[in-house]
Amino acid sequence: MGGATAAADRVPLIERYADRLPIEPGWEVVSLLEGSTPLIPAARLSERLGCETHLKFDGMNPTGSFKDRGMTVAVTAAKAKGVDAIICASTGNTAASSAAYAARAGLRGAVIVPEGKIASGKLAQALIHGARVVGLRGNFDQALELVKELSEKHPVELVNSINPYRIEGQKTAAFEVVDDLGEAPDALAIPVGNAGNITAWWKGFGEYGRGRPVLYGFQAEGAAPIVEGAVVENPETVASAIRIGNPARWKEAEAALSESDGRIAAVSDAEILDAQHWLAANEGVFCEPASAASVAGALKHGVGEVGRLVCVITGHGLKDPDIALLGASEVVHCDVDLGQIEQAVLGD
Ligand code: F0G
Repeated sequence: MGGATAAADRVPLIERYADRLPIEPGWEVVSLLEGSTPLIPAARLSERLGCETHLKFDGMNPTGSFKDRGMTVAVTAAKAKGVDAIICASTGNTAASSAAYAARAGLRGAVIVPEGKIASGKLAQALIHGARVVGLRGNFDQALELVKELSEKHPVELVNSINPYRIEGQKTAAFEVVDDLGEAPDALAIPVGNAGNITAWWKGFGEYGRGRPVLYGFQAEGAAPIVEGAVVENPETVASAIRIGNPARWKEAEAALSESDGRIAAVSDAEILDAQHWLAANEGVFCEPASAASVAGALKHGVGEVGRLVCVITGHGLKDPDIALLGASEVVHCDVDLGQIEQAVLGD
């Protein structure tokens, strides 16, 4: 197990790390060949930060976010348990991922999302995969409370990151980084929403036993309950994926941060969007706003005097085209005419 996996021999994440995941013999693996995502060296970002920096591009998973790592394990376990439906509350990516894996498994999927508050790409994914999409007139935190109650009352499996199988799957991202670098990086920068992912990464480094980084978690200023030490009743941020005011894995995240000697800090919407655009234009990596929080945070707050940093890029930029277009430059319009084309392409 372990080692770099070439595209030609791409295997399900559950197979790649079979000896480290709680999958019972005989379970039918539900997979879209997730994981084994690229760790991209970022020369220009390294220069700005003054340390060797890599981007773990988990937006390259099958549905465009890290959620697939947890979903393959959670849905495999749900299927083995014999349920016929899975459910989640979501700011968008969990909805997209659970819908795809439900389709793959032949299970019914239902997702509860804050109405009008999720990115259009994610909504399209959940719908086209055939999930029942419920738009809640409320926020993510309220949606999560409701799905918890619902899954206690009915035989539907909850696949939010309070489901331990989700954390098990997501910890493999840390394994991959260690496999690629030969050891853990000195520091890891990661966006924090419901705090499942930071919990999973920390578990992964601990279990792999080849060093642990200092963790730097970053929340959006308008949705920064862990930074402020208090629940945020009405979280607001342009990074809709992390618009969360009462993270389910709050305690685990705090434990991980303190064990690693790390810290959690906030970044503004403007800083997030700046980092998103800068990464796209200077590193060729297009991520969604929530993912850019890791880079924005490292740029704003620093990561100490470290040799090697990994920034976790949690979701693909195509998830949220509307936000990207809002801050982008204008299309140059042109008739079918060589002179006009010359002016359009070469002119100021
Ligand atoms: N980045 C992206 C792109 C996300 O979608 C999320 C969470 C996070 C970061 C934060 O991860 O919650 O484990 O701390 N999205 C969830 C969802 C809440 O419903 O898709 P976290």
